[in-house]
Amino acid sequence: MDSGGNEQRSLDEMWAAEDPIFERKQLLEIDHIPNEDRIIGRDEEIENIVSSLHPAISGGSPRNTLIYGKTGTGKSLVTKHVTRSAQRYAGNQAVEMGRAYVNCTQSSTETRVVVNLARELNNPERTGISIPETGLSTDAYYHRLWQILDELYDVVIVILDEIDKLQENEVLMQLSRAGEAGKVDSCNLGIIAISNKISFKKSLDERVLSSLQDTEFIFPPYDANQLRAIMENRKDAFRPGVITDDVIPLCAAYAAQEHGDARKALDILRNAGELAKNNDAEKVTDQHVKDARDKADMDRFAALLKDQPTQAKAPILALAALVESKNEAEFSSNEIYEIYRYITNQLDMDTLSQRRMNDRLNEAVFLDILGRTERVVGRGRGRGVTPYLYHLLEDSDIVQAVILRDSRFEPLGGQPLIP
Ligand SMILES: Nc1ncnc2c1ncn2[C@@H]1O[C@H](COP(=O)(O)OP(=O)(O)OP(=O)(O)O)[C@@H](O)[C@H]1O
Ligand SMILES: [Mg+2]
Repeated sequence: MDSGGNEQRSLDEMWAAEDPIFERKQLLEIDHIPNEDRIIGRDEEIENIVSSLHPAISGGSPRNTLIYGKTGTGKSLVTKHVTRSAQRYAGNQAVEMGRAYVNCTQSSTETRVVVNLARELNNPERTGISIPETGLSTDAYYHRLWQILDELYDVVIVILDEIDKLQENEVLMQLSRAGEAGKVDSCNLGIIAISNKISFKKSLDERVLSSLQDTEFIFPPYDANQLRAIMENRKDAFRPGVITDDVIPLCAAYAAQEHGDARKALDILRNAGELAKNNDAEKVTDQHVKDARDKADMDRFAALLKDQPTQAKAPILALAALVESKNEAEFSSNEIYEIYRYITNQLDMDTLSQRRMNDRLNEAVFLDILGRTERVVGRGRGRGVTPYLYHLLEDSDIVQAVILRDSRFEPLGGQPLIP
C-alpha cells in the first residue's frame, strides 16, 4: 500500500493521540538502560570501576571487583554501562574484549553459570565449539569455556549480578583462579560480583574471598535531590505539562524514606502516570502519586503473603487490628491470641492453641512479614525476659486491606475486629 508522507504523519499523530499521559513510557520501564547523560550522582562509582578495569582495555588483567549497595542504588546499571563502554574502547584499540553478564537469580547453580557464560562468549563459527543447553558434565562445560576464552579473547569481563543468590560458590573459585591454575593461557579474566547483601561475604570460602577481594566498592543510597534529578532526567517519558509540579518531589520523598531506592522512585512515578491514565485524568497529580505508593506497598505486602495459609494470616490480621485500635506498635502473644480467637470464631475457622499460633507468628517473623522484640521486665534478681512482643513491618491499614481481600476473610470486611 502506498502511503504518502503526509498521510503517514497524520497516522502517527493518531497513534500518539491514543495516550494523553505518556509520550515515551519506555524511559520509565524497569529494564530501560538510560544514556550516560541520564545517569545521575554516580561519578565516583563510575570512576572507581573504570580504574579497576583500566588494565583490561589494553589487554591486561582487570582487577576482580566486589560491588555492594542496597537495592535500587544503580549497581547493575552502572556496571553494565561502564563495561559496555570498556568493550567499545578496547575494540577501537584492536583489543578483543569479551563481556558476559549473568544474573544469579536466574542461574543459581554452578553448571547454569558456566553454560550461560560459555554460550554468551562463544562464537561457534570461529571456534567450532558447540555449547548445548544441557547434557554435558560441569567439567566438560568448563573445558569448553576455557577453550573459548583462549581462542577468541585477549581479556574477558564476567559480571555476576545478585551473587548472593548463587547456591554454589565453586564457580567463583574456578573463575577467579582460572589464570593461576593454568586453565586459560592467553586470555585475562576479570570478575565483577554484585550483591545487595553485605553479609554475603561471610558465606565465602577464604580462598575465594582473597582472590575476589582485590577491590571493593559500596554504592551509597540516593538522597532526595538525586532521586529528583534521576526522575527529572526522564521527565520526557510524559507529554509536556502533564505532570504537575509536586509529582516528582513527592515520588522522591517517598523513595528517600525507603532508603533512597531509585527503582522505587521510578516505579511510583510510572504507576502514578498509569493511574492518571486509567482515570482519564488530564494531569498526573500528587493524589495519583499517593495512590501509586499505596498500591506499590499493597502489591509488595500481597506478594509476601501470597503463599501463606489462612491460619498464618489470622494472627497477623489480629495484630494489625490491635495496632490500629490501641495506637501502640507492639503486642504480646496473649493480646494477639484474644483477637485471633475472636476472628477465627467469626469465620468458623479452627482455633489453634496459643502455642501453635505462636509458631505461625514466629514463622512470619522469619519471613520478614512481622518484627519481634524481647521485653525485659523487673530488676536485679527478679529480672527476666518475658515472651516476645510482635510488631508490624507495614502500615496497619495496608496489612488489613491485603488480608481482607482474601475471600476467606471477606465476611469480616467493614466490621470492628476488636470486640
Ligand atoms: N544514577 C542513576 N541515574 C539514572 N537512573 C538510575 C540511576 N541509578 C539507578 N537508576 C535506575 O533505577 C533502577 C534501579 O537501578 P539498578 O537496577 O541499577 O539498581 P541495583 O542497585 O542493581 O538494585 P538491585 O540490588 O535491586 O539489583 C533502574 O531502572 C535504573 O535505570
Ligand atoms: Mg541489580
